[in-house]
Formats: sequence, C-alpha cells, structure tokens
Amino acid sequence: MYNRQDAFYKKAKREGYRSRAAYKLIELNKKYEIYRNGQYVLDVGCAPGGWSQVVAQMSKTRIVGVDLLETGEMELDRYTFIQGDITEQETVDKVLAVSSGYDAVISDAAPNTSGSKLLDHVNSIELVRKIFYFACSVLKPGGNFVCKVFEGEDRDALVKEMRVHFEFCKQFRPEATRKGSFEMYVIMKGFKGLKSE
Ligand SMILES: C[S@@+](CC[C@H](N)C(=O)[O-])C[C@H]1O[C@@H](n2cnc3c(N)ncnc32)[C@H](O)[C@@H]1O
Repeated sequence: MYNRQDAFYKKAKREGYRSRAAYKLIELNKKYEIYRNGQYVLDVGCAPGGWSQVVAQMSKTRIVGVDLLETGEMELDRYTFIQGDITEQETVDKVLAVSSGYDAVISDAAPNTSGSKLLDHVNSIELVRKIFYFACSVLKPGGNFVCKVFEGEDRDALVKEMRVHFEFCKQFRPEATRKGSFEMYVIMKGFKGLKSE
C-alpha cells in the first residue's frame, strides 16, 4: 500500500521534486552513470516529472519526456514533452522528430497495477519488451538503457534477451523503492546494436 507520508515522499515535497521516484534515478545515476552532462536523454513514462527534473539539473543535458498522461507545466530548460503511448508508431515518430539519436533512454514506465501480482508482472514484461525494442531504434551506439520491471518468472528470460545487445547489464533495487514493492531496475550500458548473437 502506498504510504504518502513515507520519508522519500516528504523529502520530495521538501526539495521540490514532483515525485519520490526522483531519488531512485539520483541513486541509479550515482552508481551507474547512465547519462552525463551534455547528453541527449529520453525519459519514457516521465509523468509526473521527477526523473526529468533530476536529469535537468545537469546544465547542458537535453531531455525528451514521453507519457500517456499530461505532466502539466514543467518549467525545465532544454526539455520537450510528448504526450502519447510509446508503443504506438505515432508517438515514436514524434520522439524521432526531436532527435534521431539518444545517448540514454531511461524508462520508469509501468502498467496500471491490477492487484494481481501475476497479471501486473505479465503486463510489465510486455510493456518493457516493447520499450526495449523502441529504445534500440533510437539509441546511439554505446548508449545506455534503464528500465523498470515488475519481478516474476519471466523476468530472467527478458533480461537475457535484452542483455546480449549491451556490453554491461546489472539489476538493482534503489533504496527509495517502496517497502513491499516488487519492482526492480535493469541497467544496460554500451549498446552494441540489435544484431543477433
Ligand atoms: C511510475 S510513473 C513514472 C514516474 C516518473 N519517473 C517520475 O519520476 O515522476 C510511470 C508512468 O509510466 C507511464 N506509462 C505507462 N505505460 C506507458 C506507455 N505505453 N507510454 C507512455 N507512458 C506510459 C504512466 O502513464 C506513468 O505516468
């Protein structure tokens, strides 16, 4: 159950982040350097905007955020928001119109939860697989990709399928992840292209 009064929620309120999720990206980037200053970053499933705020703290980084939902006024520099479903070609075309090559694709996207752990897992795997292949079509060679996956029996097979296209792959659960949550993050660095093994 979501505890709105938890420590990261309060911290986000205090520090002006739009979501407690911001602290997950801060931790992920500190540990794995997924993006660097001056790079082009694509934030998939960006609403309400915490991750984009974190990326924008770097003075020269350009960010494109995509979500099904509106984020409202973001007031960020070097930021473009696209409202749409990342699994639809129309949205992909809009993302590519902004830039045809991204240094990093960061995805915190998740399906709506249903209360069934199995169904949520299956939906998450399906969504992440689509986001992964989309990311491969916009990532520069050597680029990095992070995605959120709900744990379950198909996770290992998905990670195996994705990792062969990258130099480096790790799974990580940030401290800011809510207690009892079954989400985790897969970090992949050094995109090698979509060649088959
Ligand atoms: C946990 S929230 C992201 C929080 C965000 N990282 C932040 O820091 O504020 C997950 C988001 O993924 C979005 N999402 C889920 N499926 C999507 C899809 N197919 N295309 C675009 N966005 C999607 C949801 O609308 C939701 O806003």
